[in-house]
Amino acid sequence: MCGIVGMVGSRNAVPVLMEGLKRLEYRGYDSAGVAVFQPAGLEIRRAVGRLSELERKLAAHPLDSTLGIGHTRWATHGVASERNCHPHLGQEGRLALVHNGIIENYQELKAGLVQKGVTFSSETDTEVLAQFVADCTTEGDFVCGLRNALKQARGAYAIGMLCTDQPDTLYAARLGSPLIVGKGENGLFIASDVPAILPQVEEVIYLEDGEIARLTPDGVEVWNLAGEEVSPKWVKVEMEDTAVDSGGFETFMLKEIHEQTRVLRGLLDTYLVDENIVLPDLNMPDQQIRELERIMIVSCGTAYYAAMYGRLLIEKFTSIAVETDLGSEFRYRSPKISHGTLVATVSQSGETADTLASVKMAKEAGSPILAICNVFGSSLVRESDHLIYTHAGPEIGVASTKAFTAQLMAFVLFTLHVAEVRGDLSPDKRKELLADLQKIPTAVLRVLEGKEGIREIAEQHHDGPSSLYLGRRFNYPIALEGALKNKEISYQHAEGYAAGEMKHGPIALINDSLPVICICTETADEVDEKMISNVREVQARSGRIIAIATEGDERLADITTDIIFVPRTRESLSPLVNVVALQLLAYYAAQARGTDIDKPRNLAKSVTVE
Ligand code: F6R
Repeated sequence: MCGIVGMVGSRNAVPVLMEGLKRLEYRGYDSAGVAVFQPAGLEIRRAVGRLSELERKLAAHPLDSTLGIGHTRWATHGVASERNCHPHLGQEGRLALVHNGIIENYQELKAGLVQKGVTFSSETDTEVLAQFVADCTTEGDFVCGLRNALKQARGAYAIGMLCTDQPDTLYAARLGSPLIVGKGENGLFIASDVPAILPQVEEVIYLEDGEIARLTPDGVEVWNLAGEEVSPKWVKVEMEDTAVDSGGFETFMLKEIHEQTRVLRGLLDTYLVDENIVLPDLNMPDQQIRELERIMIVSCGTAYYAAMYGRLLIEKFTSIAVETDLGSEFRYRSPKISHGTLVATVSQSGETADTLASVKMAKEAGSPILAICNVFGSSLVRESDHLIYTHAGPEIGVASTKAFTAQLMAFVLFTLHVAEVRGDLSPDKRKELLADLQKIPTAVLRVLEGKEGIREIAEQHHDGPSSLYLGRRFNYPIALEGALKNKEISYQHAEGYAAGEMKHGPIALINDSLPVICICTETADEVDEKMISNVREVQARSGRIIAIATEGDERLADITTDIIFVPRTRESLSPLVNVVALQLLAYYAAQARGTDIDKPRNLAKSVTVE
């Protein structure tokens, strides 16, 4: 979603801003712009489309200034057009502002400004905010006026701002949307995330909600919304700069799919020490684990499917009741967060607005918060009491792959740890599970080695308007995730269903042109036969069956020739392997359909608005 970068320093800011915006591209955007300070006034360049369009404009009319802000916009209010692009100006160019988030009461603020004679050139909530801030800061102390304006703005924001009458001064503020301040040899910076300014900074401040920062060559001052000055906490940046390199793969997504063997092995090496599960950031005493009665897992999108898997695991191997919720629903359904409830969240970015808002609500209700998260220092991490890092490394492809399998692995490790502490799992059973878990990275590698076969199947079936994904129990969330991957990157409509539900409706869709992807890896119990019966129901209606099956399983030989064989694993761990086959299937379908795989249309990597 929208990305912000800003600099006040000792060299031309424009190349730094453009490099920062490139590093924010993965978040998803449809237009971009920069504003810089010049003694004669603020100068702006904006363009619709990829950053190359903005570069073209800058090449035609170059800018040079040591103070500037930049923005990638993901449209919320008004189409992607140059006039809706950020930066937006306030009071005929007295200030320029970039914004991430949504100002919910912008109509109300706008009406007040219109009455005062202010005119608007865009349809955006951001221009209203720029004009409103300008209006509140015409006289008196600037920071006081800015705070007053922000106090009246409802919704979420991260902003960067320049003012004509304040050379060498960059303002930043946040509420609900992420923003960091960084310092390095060339000056001071602001950005939506650390990778955006990684080559420039050695230390960063993660601004807290309600904070306003003023950056000048003399340093950084930070105030809270109450107007008190707070002393900023500088944190050393310890992140590898791998984000911009696709490592010889044709896309970041393909690279990240291939990284899964290493990520899963790494998680086992990190968290499994001599057969003991050691979760150093969990920070949950055994007594607290024993007293847990219920876990409510809140997340969005792909992370929600990981949560569904987590629920199945925890309920199978422990005596704790588990519920799953979408972040956007949890907040509005009056959940009963009683004593003994742990609210757990799953998030790659740690910045998803709906997940964060749910966490804040759960905290107010007195619940401890567990976060399964991939990004150190993210807002979610800072809001949580208990943490499990997924250590998947930066995920640049917009469609999540390695972060998802890492989330599944985190749930396995958490479940085994909790089951052990509570005495819910016999030592023998635990040993068997751990032994099977150790084989998962190699099983994933085997699926990757079979990618050419998966490509051939994808090339035969990518053409139709729709596809259906079926799975049961542990593989039901994987059917949902397979369908989501396909929708996201190949733009083919796809639905995931619990296979047993098919006859309650979707069976009406089945004909000889509908690809039906059936996850039927062996489960060694009655669910196995039921899944095969469901596949036969599809066959009886001439559906085009693509099966994910266990190596050596011949039962599907008379049903379809399009079978993706995967190594044998126990059912409760099979999602970690099966999903990789579905990621590749979606990937090659997308390739055959010629889409922009790393940056699918309309999608944002970090969904920082509700
Ligand atoms: C899909 C995808 C999204 C995210 C969702 C939550 O491939 O990546 O559905 O899973 O937006 O994002 P995080 O995990 O960052 O909270």
